[in-house]
Amino acid sequence: MSMYSRRQFLSGAGALGAATACPGIWAATVAQSGLSSDEILRLETQAAGFSNPLRLPGSSGLFGVLPATDFKEVHVVRSEIEVLPGQRTPILAYAVESRGKKFLNPALLARRGDEMRVKLINHIDQPTVIHWHGLSVDSRNDGNGLNVVAPGQSMDYAFALQDRSSMYWYHPHAHGYIPQQAYHGLASLLFVEDDDEAALRKELALALGESEIPLVLQDKEFDAQGRLQYAPSAAQSFGGWVGNRLMVNLTERPRLKAGRRIVRFRILNGSNARSYRLAFLQDGKALGFYLAGTDGGLLAQPLRIDQTFLSPGQRLDVLVDFREANPTRPVTLASLPFDPMHQEGGHDMATMDHSQHGATQGAAALAAMAMEGDARALMRIDLAPSSTPYDRRLPARLSSLSAPVEPAGAARRIQLGHDGKGHWTINGGVYDHTAVPLTVQRGARETWRIENAERSMPHPMHLHGFSFRVLERLGSPAPVRSLAGARGLLPQDQGVVDTLQVWPGESVRIAIDFSHPHQGDQDYVFHCHTLEHAEAGMMMRYAVKA
Ligand code: C2O
Ligand code: CU
Ligand code: CU
Repeated sequence: MSMYSRRQFLSGAGALGAATACPGIWAATVAQSGLSSDEILRLETQAAGFSNPLRLPGSSGLFGVLPATDFKEVHVVRSEIEVLPGQRTPILAYAVESRGKKFLNPALLARRGDEMRVKLINHIDQPTVIHWHGLSVDSRNDGNGLNVVAPGQSMDYAFALQDRSSMYWYHPHAHGYIPQQAYHGLASLLFVEDDDEAALRKELALALGESEIPLVLQDKEFDAQGRLQYAPSAAQSFGGWVGNRLMVNLTERPRLKAGRRIVRFRILNGSNARSYRLAFLQDGKALGFYLAGTDGGLLAQPLRIDQTFLSPGQRLDVLVDFREANPTRPVTLASLPFDPMHQEGGHDMATMDHSQHGATQGAAALAAMAMEGDARALMRIDLAPSSTPYDRRLPARLSSLSAPVEPAGAARRIQLGHDGKGHWTINGGVYDHTAVPLTVQRGARETWRIENAERSMPHPMHLHGFSFRVLERLGSPAPVRSLAGARGLLPQDQGVVDTLQVWPGESVRIAIDFSHPHQGDQDYVFHCHTLEHAEAGMMMRYAVKA
């Protein structure tokens, strides 16, 4: 049996080489994915019972929208919110006050070029620090965890937002505490806008919270009192913790009302370890949609697709034209079934647990891991006639993003693996905050070839300090290859990214431009965004010499 055929999900062979040369259209379809219309209808039936109104960014409170320049202090606090209807859930949160309004985990809004000046004040009993995920700030402001804020202490951030328009995010980065703190609520969004962004908003008449909807995907576990549970076994501390309750914007079983128009979804996978295979479903079929952007902003042109993977840390900018849908029936946002490819991790975990806690728990851990990749409905979308006539069309061009230029010179080889003793490794090394195994020169243009072991797990590798471009994927497992086009690239590989899913057996070449406007040497990290993997060693410091 092939290592990828443990589950029945894709008939890869039929789809191999199916990518067409037709610009803007990706060839692989859900039909080719081997998913039957019965399976799709089952997901739609699941979603039919969803009735909790999706939590949307308002003008204050949890997830409220706040200009990034309109506040001076962020307080890391313990708080309580209603996540499950009728229950109070203790959480960790970023608390902000601005112009007499209180915010928890505000969705920050900035214009490219804005200066952010903010003091982080730590009121909890653990060290913490904010990392601005995806922003190209200097290493002092990056919050990479080399300096952390002790309980009762504070830290000042001051930096310019120089990045392309996109949805970035912020979350804790004190090594040893990252998974727990992120899981308990510390994470939110940061939107940067530029001219391309303003043009798109105008052309499609988009309004944040109405026709432009941020979606933060997370998986949680609760006890009977509604308290969040985070208690990974030894196996899950290595393999990645996966929760069974799926949340969108901290809303379980959510329902959204959308107009019959083009709706924009800005999607973040804010889960510790769970990946999703996203599709919009209706009447037993997948509705096609457009990929408009990735981690680091808009693509040159929208790409028509009907499904996409989304790994921890990654973002997608997606346009769905609900005029193509049947207005009398809801649309379901779902995660389609896939093989999470945990086989080798699973093997390690089984043996680890065997030695430490006995075989039964090992088996239970494996069963828990197997939940990832199951078909799950995420959200029900009810279509309503648009209040005003809507005749907008998708623009042919979204930005002036050019094709990546392949750097001259040999590629730097980055090998992902594990040491057989419960640690994940990068080039054979386990994270050591005192060691800098890799140094690059400021302004260098480098190719990195990131190779994942054949018997491994997927690793969403994230680079601090610089976004990058994807040049080529080789050795992709069949379910990934079936979604790929020229040079093995997936639709989201066409964009600017900061987090790259590297599947088992893959070798992915990326181009990084280490130019930056900051003073002096810079110190960053490169790590897996499966947060438990980073804790279990899969993180590496690197320096940029001025
Ligand atoms: Cu979003 Cu170093 O991480
Ligand atoms: Cu980051
Ligand atoms: Cu990993």
